[in-house]
Amino acid sequence: MKYFSLMLLAFWSIYVHLFVLLTLNSPWIIPKLVASASENETDHMALLEFRKSILSDPHGIFLSWNTCTHFCNWHGITCNPKHQRVLELNLQGYKLKGSISPYIGNLSYMRSINLGDNNFYGEIPQELGRLSQLHNLSVGNNSLVGEIATNLTGCTNLKFLHLGGNNFIDKIPIEIGSLRKLQHLILSNNEFTGEIPLFMGNLSSLTLLAVAGNNLEGSIPHEICSLKSLTWIAFHLNKLRGTFPTCLYNISSLNIISATNNQLNGSLPTNMFHTLPNLHKFLISNNQIIGSIPPSITNASFLSILDADNNYFTGQVPSLSKLQDLRYLSFSGNNLGDNSTDDLEFLKSLTNCSQLQMIDIGFNSFGGHLPNSLGNLSMQLNELYLGGNHIVGEIPSAIGNLIGLVLLSMTGNSIDGTIPTTFGKLQNMQKLRLGRNKLSGGIGAFIGNLSQLFHLDEGKNMLQGKIPPSIGNYQSIPVEVGNLKNLGSLDMSENNLSYHIPPSIGECIVLEYLNLKGNSLNGIIPPSLASLKGLRSLDLSQNSLGGSIPNDLQKISVLQYFNVSLNMLVGEVPKGGVFQNASVLVVTGNKNLCGGISELHLPPCPVDGKKLAKLHPFMLIATIVSAVAFLLIISSSGNFSFVYKGILRPEEKVVAIKVLNLQKRGSQKSFIAECNALKNIKHRNVVPILTCCSGIDYKGQEFKALIFEYMKNGSLEQWLHQIALSAEHSRTLNLDQRLNIMIDVASALHYLHYECEQLIVHCDLKPSNVLLDDDMIAHVSDFGLVRLFSTINCTSSQHTSTIVIKGTIGYVPPEYGMGSEVSTAGDMYSFGILLLEMLTGRRPIDEIFEDGQNLHTFVENSFPDNLLQILDPSIVLNQEEQNSQNLTPTVEK
Ligand SMILES: *[C@@H]1O[C@H](CO)[C@@H](O)[C@H](O)[C@H]1NC(C)=O
Ligand SMILES: *[C@@H]1O[C@H](CO)[C@@H](O)[C@H](O)[C@H]1NC(C)=O
Ligand SMILES: *[C@@H]1O[C@H](CO)[C@@H](O)[C@H](O)[C@H]1NC(C)=O
Ligand SMILES: *[C@@H]1O[C@H](CO)[C@@H](O)[C@H](O)[C@H]1NC(C)=O
Ligand SMILES: *[C@@H]1O[C@H](CO)[C@@H](O)[C@H](O)[C@H]1NC(C)=O
Ligand SMILES: *[C@@H]1O[C@H](CO)[C@@H](O)[C@H](O)[C@H]1NC(C)=O
Ligand SMILES: *[C@@H]1O[C@H](CO)[C@@H](O)[C@H](O)[C@H]1NC(C)=O
Ligand SMILES: *[C@@H]1O[C@H](CO)[C@@H](O)[C@H](O)[C@H]1NC(C)=O
Ligand SMILES: *[C@@H]1O[C@H](CO)[C@@H](O)[C@H](O)[C@H]1NC(C)=O
Repeated sequence: MKYFSLMLLAFWSIYVHLFVLLTLNSPWIIPKLVASASENETDHMALLEFRKSILSDPHGIFLSWNTCTHFCNWHGITCNPKHQRVLELNLQGYKLKGSISPYIGNLSYMRSINLGDNNFYGEIPQELGRLSQLHNLSVGNNSLVGEIATNLTGCTNLKFLHLGGNNFIDKIPIEIGSLRKLQHLILSNNEFTGEIPLFMGNLSSLTLLAVAGNNLEGSIPHEICSLKSLTWIAFHLNKLRGTFPTCLYNISSLNIISATNNQLNGSLPTNMFHTLPNLHKFLISNNQIIGSIPPSITNASFLSILDADNNYFTGQVPSLSKLQDLRYLSFSGNNLGDNSTDDLEFLKSLTNCSQLQMIDIGFNSFGGHLPNSLGNLSMQLNELYLGGNHIVGEIPSAIGNLIGLVLLSMTGNSIDGTIPTTFGKLQNMQKLRLGRNKLSGGIGAFIGNLSQLFHLDEGKNMLQGKIPPSIGNYQSIPVEVGNLKNLGSLDMSENNLSYHIPPSIGECIVLEYLNLKGNSLNGIIPPSLASLKGLRSLDLSQNSLGGSIPNDLQKISVLQYFNVSLNMLVGEVPKGGVFQNASVLVVTGNKNLCGGISELHLPPCPVDGKKLAKLHPFMLIATIVSAVAFLLIISSSGNFSFVYKGILRPEEKVVAIKVLNLQKRGSQKSFIAECNALKNIKHRNVVPILTCCSGIDYKGQEFKALIFEYMKNGSLEQWLHQIALSAEHSRTLNLDQRLNIMIDVASALHYLHYECEQLIVHCDLKPSNVLLDDDMIAHVSDFGLVRLFSTINCTSSQHTSTIVIKGTIGYVPPEYGMGSEVSTAGDMYSFGILLLEMLTGRRPIDEIFEDGQNLHTFVENSFPDNLLQILDPSIVLNQEEQNSQNLTPTVEK
């Protein structure tokens, strides 16, 4: 009795919940369970108004901004615990789109607003000026326009003002000069004009001043020298002229000076690295600076980045051996060295710089030999550019020690001798440029060892002999391909590339021509290719690619050629975009393609087994008052949740409500993260989620639930083992139905493992988690809740999720028990067990198994001769029944 009334109460809370849910039209608004009258309505109102002015929330951040959660617990809000007033609003990086509501000016306790990295447009509301407590205003990387709100002068406590990466125009307003407490002022990457204002000198607390990436003119004012705490100044990418004010070299606190891409001239003081002893990064490339590299650099032991490309530096490079932190050294495009034998002495001193990652001394006047000590440079060295000088002599074989090298360029020197065989050790090499020298001998059999190489320039030398057969050894397309954001054309056709096309290729955003024809690539066509918005020509023909053609490829509007012939593709050919024009489309010679435009003469695709859902009598009689919720399943994997059935009005939609047992659950964050993940999973064979719900129940306790589409035909478990909850389930599954279910589950797994944005490992596949809808189409359920998802494997999940539970005995692969990490292979094991269970009708742990026997060995022992004896008797029965009476139609798909 007690249990029953508890159930009724539980139902009542859900019922109220759903009722309110339906009175609100927004899909993610969550109803209020218990009215807790807030006295601080102003903050509440302001936040609601703020949310209203946001039109797009792709990450579902506002899922938690519902009336059944106190606004202090909303995502991104921090309150003063005592007064319950909003202190911080942090919604950085959620791709929110909308305007900034003036109501934000009512949050009078506000100390920090961070809306950076979103898509806010319009102007900064003047009302912000009312926030006198505001310390931090960060709206960088949005699409804000106009002049900076002069009313910001009201924010007298402002310390951090971050307006970079917007479209602000006009002069930097003088009002900013009154914000005397400012420590960080970031105005970079806008459209500011005029000069760097003199009032900057009045912001005496400033440590960071960034005005880079604007249209500022004039010279750098002396006034900034009064900023005695300045550690970082960024002027780069403007139109500044003149010299650095000499007093600048007296600001000894400076860590970073970035002034690249201006028209600065003059020379650098010889002792500048003495007067700036804390300088870590000095970036002045693309200016007009003359003279020598200051000798004091010899003592600049803090320096980690020196970028002095494309100026007019002359003379010799001093010893840099004390620069222990040096990572990046670049002064290409100057006039250093004088074609004499000692020019490259400084390279020896660099052997002491163990952090070096990049050296670029190209396009100067360096003469002489490459020293043997080149091989003693840092193993971390990735890039070495020596091209465009007057270097003579042979390539020292010690260069093979630089195993970190990804790029080596020596083009356009007078280097002679042969290519040392030690090059074969440079396993990370991707680009090798030796062209236009005087190299002789063979082309180098080592080349085949460089499995990552994809740009090789040995042209215009005196090389002879055959191309070594090992050249065909390029095994993989390096994942780093994705790093080549500027790659416009990638032609790796007619090689022997194997393995799959890395999804990271979708990051080569400017790629226009991709030709991988004639390799041995397998796996799928990564859907990420659809992000190559500029792709004009795609040729993947003559490989072993499987899976289907990603539907989104039809959205690439400029795609003019598409060839996937002679692969093993299956499924539907899209009809939009490039797929409209048969003359630029080659899909012949695949395994099982269907659909597409009629000119392709492909067979039509099988219809999606979707019949019109019959109205069940239950739905007809159900009214909001008579809605009955009852306990359907207690999840057999460990009381993480209870599942109820309920009805949504006014659509009269029957739903399954999964209420989490919060005693066993992790944090609210995890719940939200999982809701978000589930929202992004959309597949015919995965149970569709309708909404997530979070609030306080009638007992004042936390309440969290997920609402799914209701699956009328229950779980596969109920069908296989005849656990009938109602008369509906008294039937058994025939062989066709079982096969269809298997295919459905396989499709869902394939989707989770290969086609989601993130790899999702279900971790608990079993018949009770496979649900059947009206049409007996199977839907995998119950993941994201107690299961988890991550990029590679569950255990290294960045998404705080429940990781400890690894499935159900009998279905989990044995290696999980030995502490192995969760993997897609584990899901495949569970899937195998599921298949056996569907065919034998026996659970993996069945009483009949003795002496260490299990379902697997049970089947194995009867294979292949006694299969009929182990087959689920109901299949045999069902099949006989059909044959003799031909009565029950099977569910066709
Ligand atoms: C509203 O603020 C007052 C103090 O200003 C505080 O005592 C009260 O607890 C807050 N109430 C709510 C519901 O936030
Ligand atoms: C809050 O701000 C809005 C717009 O700036 C204003 O109309 C409203 O009256 C303010 N006050 C309260 C209490 O919401
Ligand atoms: C501008 O700031 C002042 C001072 O903080 C404030 O009184 C005024 O209301 C603000 N203007 C608007 C339009 O909110
Ligand atoms: C804005 O974008 C730049 C460049 O991508 C990045 O360095 C910066 O951290 C971003 N964030 C903010 C808040 O400006
Ligand atoms: C800097 O502050 C002083 C004193 O407050 C003031 O007189 C001067 O005009 C300010 N300079 C600028 C350029 O705003
Ligand atoms: C730099 O500081 C030194 C001593 O602190 C001083 O003698 C010199 O005049 C200053 N130089 C400039 C240009 O401000
Ligand atoms: C480097 O520092 C040492 C010791 O402080 C000093 O003797 C030497 O002159 C400095 N070298 C240069 C080139 O400034
Ligand atoms: C490397 O640094 C050590 C200690 O700072 C110094 O003794 C040695 O001479 C340096 N080596 C070179 C090649 O400059
Ligand atoms: C450079 O490396 C070689 C080995 O390749 C070693 O014999 C030599 O001592 C190293 N020289 C220095 C200066 O570290």
